[in-house]
Amino acid sequence: MTIFNTSSDFAKQLDTLDPLASYRERFVITDPDLIYLDGNSLGRMPKSAAECAKQVIDEEWGVDLIRGWNKGWWDAPTRIGDKIGKLIGAEAGQVIVTDTVSSNLFKLATAALTHQPNKKRIITDIFNFPSDLYILQGIQHLLSDTIRSTQYEVIRITATDNDITPNIIELESAINANTALVTLSHVVFKSGYIYDMRRITELAHNKGALVLWDLSHSVGALPIELDNCNADLAIGCTYKYLNGGPGAPAFLYVNKKIQEKLTSPIWGWWGQKNPFDFGLDYQPADGARRFLAGTQPMISMLTMEAGIEPTLQAGMDAIRAKSILMTDYASFLTDSWLAPFGFSLGSPRDSAMRGSHISIRHADGYRINRALIEEMNVIPDFREPDNIRLGFAPLYLSFSDIWQGFDRIKRVVEEKRYEKYPKQKLLVT
Ligand SMILES: Cc1ncc(COP(=O)(O)O)c(C=O)c1O
Repeated sequence: MTIFNTSSDFAKQLDTLDPLASYRERFVITDPDLIYLDGNSLGRMPKSAAECAKQVIDEEWGVDLIRGWNKGWWDAPTRIGDKIGKLIGAEAGQVIVTDTVSSNLFKLATAALTHQPNKKRIITDIFNFPSDLYILQGIQHLLSDTIRSTQYEVIRITATDNDITPNIIELESAINANTALVTLSHVVFKSGYIYDMRRITELAHNKGALVLWDLSHSVGALPIELDNCNADLAIGCTYKYLNGGPGAPAFLYVNKKIQEKLTSPIWGWWGQKNPFDFGLDYQPADGARRFLAGTQPMISMLTMEAGIEPTLQAGMDAIRAKSILMTDYASFLTDSWLAPFGFSLGSPRDSAMRGSHISIRHADGYRINRALIEEMNVIPDFREPDNIRLGFAPLYLSFSDIWQGFDRIKRVVEEKRYEKYPKQKLLVT
């Protein structure tokens, strides 16, 4: 176990020992003074992605035109899906890249529910990302009121300890024979708590339920073993730790064992068995490809393919090792420097239970966050009610960056710089 101290020399020493340090050069960094702690919302731009975007526009769209579809565009969702599969423990043929996390959740959750029409319980938790909760509410509304005469219920598991850890006992007892689907964020977006994927999947399977994992905050941040855990379904984004770019296409995973049993609720031509027969009746494509709907956004998809290269090359074990050291170090600096000013750690202390971000909580969190962005050249983000979220992306963040970031947070509270900002919030926090 590393014994930390608060000196800047110590941070520099950690940097010299960092096996991933050279990866920073592979990202576009225009302002070396900026401490970017929001790679868990939007990853930095890899140079490979910038070069690829130009090449796709100039040479593929510009020169190949429609011929591009036969030169790698049509297969992009499955080709890139297989690459992401390597990061999440999924054998080839189970992951496709497409649409958004929200719409992929809609497709997979609806498929899981319509596959088990006699079961009416959906289980999630209060830690899930709000869009996931809204999508589930929408599905409940759609399937209960429009199609079926019976009512679906959505159960939300609550927290145990000041919004850091979900109540696992409550979760265990909520899963019953009427449960069709358990759907959770693998790493939760506020506290960074990691669910035990293997255990929850087993609990659900024991009652005959399917499980759907949202991997948005874990993909590219920690090793994931979907096949090994016998997972059923998963979704996730590529714009956070995978550095795919703003609004880059998301992905979905459907375990081979259930692919042929599930039906997408959106029957589009990209999910059709032989789309270029232009037949008048829908017949689902084999495998996960049936969950495609319409034409995919090639420029952002191919840019994202180039953006994930550094992650594939670094490997998830090395990334996770650095991530743990970074979040341990940040927790130490929170205790040493920030606790005296009213901050508390809003994330698990045990690194085995924590993803690659931590939340630090303060009653004036929103205004402190704003002061950091506007006058200290530090970018975290703020999540209600009092969380300043600090994301640690191992491929481009150094330990000296973390030291600098915490030093600047300390100055904001020491000098009460945040007090001049209104409590009223900006649109995007
Ligand atoms: C855990 C999680 N799920 C879902 C979403 C929504 O993703 P999208 O906007 O791509 O639908 C987000 C967005 O940040 C997220 O963090």
